[in-house]
Amino acid sequence: MINTSNKPLIEYNNTLQFNPDGHLKHLLDIKGLTKTEIQKIFTKTDLLLRQPPTNQPLKHKTLINLFYEASTRTRISFELAAKRLGADVVNIQSNASSVSKGESLSDTFYTLQAMQPDLLVIRHPNEGTAHLLAQEALPQTHIINAGDGSHAHPTQALLDSYTIRQYKHNFTNLCVAIIGDIKYSRAVRSLIQALRILETGEIRACGPQTLIPDDIAQQGVMLFKTTDACLEQADVVVTLRIQKERIHPALLPDEQEYFQHYGIDNRRLQRAKADAIVMHPGPINRGIEITSEVADGPQSVIREQVKNGLAVRMAVITELLDNRI
Ligand code: CP
Repeated sequence: MINTSNKPLIEYNNTLQFNPDGHLKHLLDIKGLTKTEIQKIFTKTDLLLRQPPTNQPLKHKTLINLFYEASTRTRISFELAAKRLGADVVNIQSNASSVSKGESLSDTFYTLQAMQPDLLVIRHPNEGTAHLLAQEALPQTHIINAGDGSHAHPTQALLDSYTIRQYKHNFTNLCVAIIGDIKYSRAVRSLIQALRILETGEIRACGPQTLIPDDIAQQGVMLFKTTDACLEQADVVVTLRIQKERIHPALLPDEQEYFQHYGIDNRRLQRAKADAIVMHPGPINRGIEITSEVADGPQSVIREQVKNGLAVRMAVITELLDNRI
């Protein structure tokens, strides 16, 4: 099936992620993964952090980063992860490729597949893109979703939940408070799914009404009217950037007003437990969703998230290749 436009058909068939033997073939979404699969990736990450590979296990393998949106953390950490495993890496930014001459997503993908990559990491503004590519992928190509619209960002969720596990060890007694743009953040949508699979005790949320999804309760998240109430005795505080690029300007909150109601500063943070950790998937907007004193303060694990992202992505790459049949 050839889709000649840049707009993919939305198809969230999460069974596409698995080989016939039930092992992970592509990483498209957190939804559909089991606790065992997530824990397997965590165990691989533990090993990679303890003992970084020295023998180039992926020598002669190729990873292509195909990015239709800007990225710092995700693209660079996939590149470094693959290189540290010994693979060859090719980076394609859509605006510097033949996409700018009108080449469709499908034709771009078929062109890249003809070069027989082992892994293709895709970021795209349209939801469902990674699923679409997985439907079309040749048997030897593994697709990794690096963010599709507001839908999913599975490796971000894995690195976020890995970081929570690193500091808090057990999910069942945890209270996680998420503040901000829950509706348009693919990172937090995937994180909520991971937290539920990992049987997190309580997931709370607070944000402007226009930035809260209608199905928040069905997602297993308790909605709070005020940030202070949401933070009360929380173990983990997740702050989020407003996804301006996906929101109609008329629905964007005033930044000063947003900070007054939802910004995390040291005074607000005192509502959470004294040993609460503060997270942010990045990029951060200082003075809007978080102050510098919190972002750079002793409870912030934002840089640890980035560090873990590299190891988690190494773990995901090796998991997909190890599962080859
Ligand atoms: N968290 C995240 O996806 O960051 P980048 O957009 O910089 O990759």
